[in-house]
Amino acid sequence: MRRMNDAAFALPHRLRRNRQSAAIRGLVRETSLAAAQLIHPLFIKEGTGDEPIASMPGCARLSLDGLVRAAEAAHQLGINAVVLFPAIAGDLKSPQAIECANPMGLVPRAIQRLKEELPDLAVITDVALDPYNSDGHDGLVSPAGIILNDETVGLLCAQALCHAEAGADIVAPSDMMDGRVGAIRAALDHEGHTSVSILSYAAKYASAYYGPFRGALDSAPRSGDKKTYQMDPANAREAVREAQMDEAEGADILMVKPAGPYLDIIAGLRNATNLPLAAYQVSGEYLMIKSASAAGWLDERQAVLESLLGIRRAGADMILTYFARDAARWLRE
Ligand code: PBG
Repeated sequence: MRRMNDAAFALPHRLRRNRQSAAIRGLVRETSLAAAQLIHPLFIKEGTGDEPIASMPGCARLSLDGLVRAAEAAHQLGINAVVLFPAIAGDLKSPQAIECANPMGLVPRAIQRLKEELPDLAVITDVALDPYNSDGHDGLVSPAGIILNDETVGLLCAQALCHAEAGADIVAPSDMMDGRVGAIRAALDHEGHTSVSILSYAAKYASAYYGPFRGALDSAPRSGDKKTYQMDPANAREAVREAQMDEAEGADILMVKPAGPYLDIIAGLRNATNLPLAAYQVSGEYLMIKSASAAGWLDERQAVLESLLGIRRAGADMILTYFARDAARWLRE
């Protein structure tokens, strides 16, 4: 009989066998991350020249020329979709948020430029009133300070139509008003935009992690908070209700936001629906990794790829992330 190595003992399962080389680790890897799964959020502004965003190092408010350059660079790295966020000049913001549906506005012009210059890139637009609303809320605000649901939905439909007319491939309502997905679907179909998709922010939480983004767009609520429409971070079952409602109303893709602190929500929705799922790694998640790595306390590349892989592992098909370009480049190396 062969003598057992003194140090070895009988152990039927040694999980380390599947980790012993890069080749074997590659064979047993359960989750993949690819540039084609990433969506790049981009901030846009009027005029020439790009402006760095103080609250989001490495991000800038881009002129339309800068937008085309950034989108093209991302596209060349295998990223096939961008989502646009406009910085609207203060004098165009109003309590009626009327600029949101201006066919000559910043977003429609940006969509047209992108579709002219990069026709294969999918253009996604954010549908919500906060960049346009002088109150800083995603919906219209009554004199008593109430966020008005049904009045807002009418305006969101006009905004979505305006984006569709300009050539948007996907509209993404992020406002959390009830009934907006169905209303937007009906409005789009009525005007013949049957192939414009709806990516619904189904489970969007009232999160502290949006802080740096609101700094980028000067869109923080002027009074109150967003807790009467965005979800309570304590709730998970309610996310399933939101998802089911948006699915029934005709959403094509559902989103969970933020991503990292809500991986259980992503996993829960993965089981509750067969729609494709997106997750948004938001500005605060970006800033935490950026600042820790700028201080030399984290390896940025490894932390970014690990955070994105974790979101994929939880069940997201696609991820919106400000790291999209860096991640796509790192995935190629
Ligand atoms: C608003 C909107 C927000 C974000 C995307 N769309 C902010 C908010 O709800 O206040 C946040 C994105 C981020 O933090 O990266 N409609």
